[in-house]
Amino acid sequence: MAHATENTGISSRLLLFGATGDLAKRMLLPSLFALHEDGLIAADLRIVGTARSVMSDEEYRELAAQSLSEYLPEDRKGNGQLQSFLERLSYQPLDASQTDGFNALAQKLGDISGGLSIFLSTAPSLFEAMIAGLKSAGLTGENVRIGLEKPLGNDLGSSGVINDAVAQAFSEQQTFRIDHYLGKETVQNLMALRFANMMFEPLWNSNGIDHVEITVSETVGLEGRHGFYDDTGSLRDMVQNHMLQLLALTAMEAPANLDATSVRDEKVKVLRSLRPVQMEEMVRGQYGEGAVKGEAVNSYADDLGDQSDTETFVAIKAHIDNWRWQGVPFYLRTGKRLAERRSEIVIQFNAVPHNIFAERGGKLNANRLVIRLQPEEYVRLQVMAKEPGLDRDGVVLREVPLDLSLSQAFSKARKRIAYERLLLDLVDGDPTLFVRRDEVEAQWHWVDAIRKTWNENDMEPKSYGAGSWGPAAAIALTERDGVSWHE
Ligand code: BG6
Repeated sequence: MAHATENTGISSRLLLFGATGDLAKRMLLPSLFALHEDGLIAADLRIVGTARSVMSDEEYRELAAQSLSEYLPEDRKGNGQLQSFLERLSYQPLDASQTDGFNALAQKLGDISGGLSIFLSTAPSLFEAMIAGLKSAGLTGENVRIGLEKPLGNDLGSSGVINDAVAQAFSEQQTFRIDHYLGKETVQNLMALRFANMMFEPLWNSNGIDHVEITVSETVGLEGRHGFYDDTGSLRDMVQNHMLQLLALTAMEAPANLDATSVRDEKVKVLRSLRPVQMEEMVRGQYGEGAVKGEAVNSYADDLGDQSDTETFVAIKAHIDNWRWQGVPFYLRTGKRLAERRSEIVIQFNAVPHNIFAERGGKLNANRLVIRLQPEEYVRLQVMAKEPGLDRDGVVLREVPLDLSLSQAFSKARKRIAYERLLLDLVDGDPTLFVRRDEVEAQWHWVDAIRKTWNENDMEPKSYGAGSWGPAAAIALTERDGVSWHE
């Protein structure tokens, strides 16, 4: 997919920082195994894990085998590929705050002339030391690229510090910032839907569309991520990255082609066109006690063991100030402990200019396109149809779905998790699905202004019952425009 000049070649070494952590166990190792099993990574790719814990290669392979048995889908297990996968793995303990240890790491990696890809997920405080360590051990050359997992700072300033530290050793072309939503199949499908079909694009603007809703709701709560989540909150955990990427892909102009520069150029234009949000256009929430899927759950304060003014829910009425989207609100909402786990984009089209059925009693609803990203994957267009009959008492029109179930249409294709795609693109050197620095900066610029408004106005989160759709104010946010959230 990458433009020839952007592709820096396939790596023969992959270095995983945080190799004993939760992300590695739940996502990275299972993803790498799947790529191995399907023959998608080169036979000579060696994977070196590193973390603080002292353990041998053998012990790390055991840890990996255990994670795979816990987290691989059933149909991936017992296919006889485990041993050959584990043989790719080795491990080097490292205290990343000390430069000395990096030489041993370099030795473990051996010859990196065939290219090295690094996957770095670490506490922001360790970034500078890490980069210095990599540099001192010769692990930053031209054929090295680095994948960076969030959090990469918590505002424009701190993200700038991290990006500057990385830029000391890696050019922008070598820097692959991860937003795992971009690895999701349905998110990429958004581009196919928009730009591989004729029928949507002519209407995809303020002439055809009344408003857009983007929902990313979760049923989980704090999940033991006390320190991190309470310092971060929903706005920075979900809106700054995943939701703004969804918004950008929904709103961008058609890129010249699918290379990394063209796609990211279009996304950043949207992000830079976001209008600063007014106080009355946003809602902050925090979950109280309640029941999720029939089970009683604690409030956020109880989960945390402390009072807090961190938000676990945000709803925002966003505006994109450009020609295409003038006057079309983008309603965003995301939160923890909501009624359902669901990610979707809803495009509400305008009503037809004149209802010819009105005199015969026919009522019309405007068309709506629902792009469901998870847990199900489908695209559903609500269209009006006439109920069969002789219409003696008037014409009855009804909304019927025109359904494209992606899981059914492509039932033979394997469902892949986002990290499979992203790790493969990292190792292959294709940056299209990674976030460029100017995108991140535009995202933070908008988000920082929101937090400033909250602070200046002492805007505390409103409580909502766990298992609901958030504070009542989130419903009012759309209702006063005559719009209902799609539920
Ligand atoms: C992560 C957030 O980036 O995305 C988590 O830190 C959140 O808080 C997760 O739960 C949601 O990802 P997904 O893929 O489950 O929608």
